[in-house]
Amino acid sequence: MSVPDEIRTARIQLRQWTARDEPHLLAIQSLVEVVKWQDDGPPKVMKDIDEARERIASYERQARPHGVWAVVPDDVGHPVGSVMLNPVPESGEPALTQIGWSLHPTAWGHGYAAEAASALLDAGLAAGVSEIYALTNLTNFPSIAVALRIGMTDLGTTDDYYEEPSRIFVARSPAT
Ligand SMILES: CC(C)(COP(=O)(O)OP(=O)(O)OC[C@H]1O[C@@H](n2cnc3c(N)ncnc32)[C@H](O)[C@@H]1OP(=O)(O)O)[C@@H](O)C(=O)NCCC(=O)NCCS
Repeated sequence: MSVPDEIRTARIQLRQWTARDEPHLLAIQSLVEVVKWQDDGPPKVMKDIDEARERIASYERQARPHGVWAVVPDDVGHPVGSVMLNPVPESGEPALTQIGWSLHPTAWGHGYAAEAASALLDAGLAAGVSEIYALTNLTNFPSIAVALRIGMTDLGTTDDYYEEPSRIFVARSPAT
């Protein structure tokens, strides 16, 4: 079984990003307060709709279990952010899998990130990924709170994968 393209929760549809969503992706990824926590180095702010188009195309090229799911709350009706499964950098071959989350600030404080991430975590484990990690900046307290809220195990800090130290969490399938 693979991680499904669409996942339903009580309040949210998780689905693939499409060309129609380009303005929403640009609105989210053009904000420094969202992108400053992604990847090493200076924040990579999205500049224009062409970049949004290329980014969605790059999402479509990802092979399962990896991918980026648009978070569409029923009461909003369009994507307010993403949850994703992707490889942990510098984690060997095969790479470890990590889960991530990012939302437009207008969607913070509703429990959407935790609800979406919990569903994707369950889907990833059910699809046979035996361990899923989450890595956050040590001072990204809202993100640390999401990992704890969805029941991931806190493994402390690590210097292994990003330039800056990370707080690292894991969820393991019951069979592991
Ligand atoms: C990290 C991030 C997704 C967290 O968003 P968030 O909305 O705080 O997270 P949650 O979905 O868990 O929501 C929890 C909040 O919603 C509130 N909430 C409101 N209604 C709720 C409901 N029905 N159910 C659950 N929580 C609810 C909770 O009380 C909590 O608020 P609090 O933080 O004031 O206590 C967001 O800060 C973000 O996008 N940051 C930028 C990108 C980023 O840092 N990504 C992670 C990189 S590692």
